Amino acid sequence: MTATLIDNIGLLVEPERERPNAALVYDAGLISWIGDSSSAPAADARIDADGRCVIPGFVDTHSHLMFAGDRTDEFVSRMAGRKYEAGGIRSTVTATRAASDEELLSNATRFVAEMRAQGTTTVEIKSGYGLTTLDEARSLALARRLTPETTYLGAHVVPLEYADDVAGYVELVTGAMLDAAAPHAKWIDVFCEAGAFDVDQARTILTAGIARGLGARMHAGQLGASGGVRLAVELGAASVDHCTFLSESDIDDLAAGSTVATLLPGVEFSTRQPYPDARRLLAAGVTVALACDCNPGSSFTSSMPFCIAVAVRDMGMTPAEALRAATAGGAAALQRDDIGTIAVGNRADLVILDAPSYVHLAYRPGVPLVSRVIG
Ligand code: NIG
Ligand code: FE
Repeated sequence: MTATLIDNIGLLVEPERERPNAALVYDAGLISWIGDSSSAPAADARIDADGRCVIPGFVDTHSHLMFAGDRTDEFVSRMAGRKYEAGGIRSTVTATRAASDEELLSNATRFVAEMRAQGTTTVEIKSGYGLTTLDEARSLALARRLTPETTYLGAHVVPLEYADDVAGYVELVTGAMLDAAAPHAKWIDVFCEAGAFDVDQARTILTAGIARGLGARMHAGQLGASGGVRLAVELGAASVDHCTFLSESDIDDLAAGSTVATLLPGVEFSTRQPYPDARRLLAAGVTVALACDCNPGSSFTSSMPFCIAVAVRDMGMTPAEALRAATAGGAAALQRDDIGTIAVGNRADLVILDAPSYVHLAYRPGVPLVSRVIG
């Protein structure tokens, strides 16, 4: 194996400190040494960071990349004043069902590459635009070729053919569809919101997934406060995502539990909703993650730097908090301790920024600052 030294790092972002004039060595994909550039050991290969900042690769824990089609028109009408509604998902379902495996995989592969070019080294991918047993299972089998972090979201919305039989659809999601999806999934998720699934249905669905050995995640608090956040905490979900609308008791529940609050600023940006209040969550001691929620409806960005810039500008996060949420926070939301932080023994998932500090991610919004991605 080849040990690689990165030296002349202007600023290295470690979990408990920001080290100037740093170096690190990685070997077989794992970080083996961290220290001052002046005392760096020899290695087989060398990368000269030339004073640049090195950060952990971004951990983007929320994406809906298994889809076909496009909703440009919906975006245009939203920008002209129309409200976002959960029902828009159904038009992507029609296009996804009609697409071949090759189309679905090449579309998702393209978005994963786009994410990586912007510094994302771990991505979670959900199903949820198939909504038949066959289409959910194939979405997950294809997603598995791109990431181990796959999430079964048969409970995204009720498909039209079940509009008059919601209970029947919940039975399918927790029965035959779960059987077909589970071998390809690590997680189960449910969209708990008006227009999608209520708290009782969400409980039934997540409980069935947990019984099958899947970890729980949840979409809640996107369009209004509901009992979804409380349920996520009660079931020990790894993460509850959106959290735009939270009651005081939701904050208390999150602070008392172990569920990460994952904020998705791309959604508020492209649905013209108020941004979630990250400050309120951080002040209460809640672990916060940031993710893109890349999907053709509510948030068609694949850029974690963009989400960081918005979180700093509009959600009350400091640049250091936003970076932590986009890296270590994401790792916590996936219950992983091998990614998201630069530490000996962790995966060498690293981003060399074309900037002297990670603060530039927010200070220079929209500028491509990723010089090199490792891992
Ligand atoms: O996370 N909220 C539910 N699912 C997606 C939206 C999907 C869509 O509009 O197609 C989200 O925002
Ligand atoms: Fe989502």
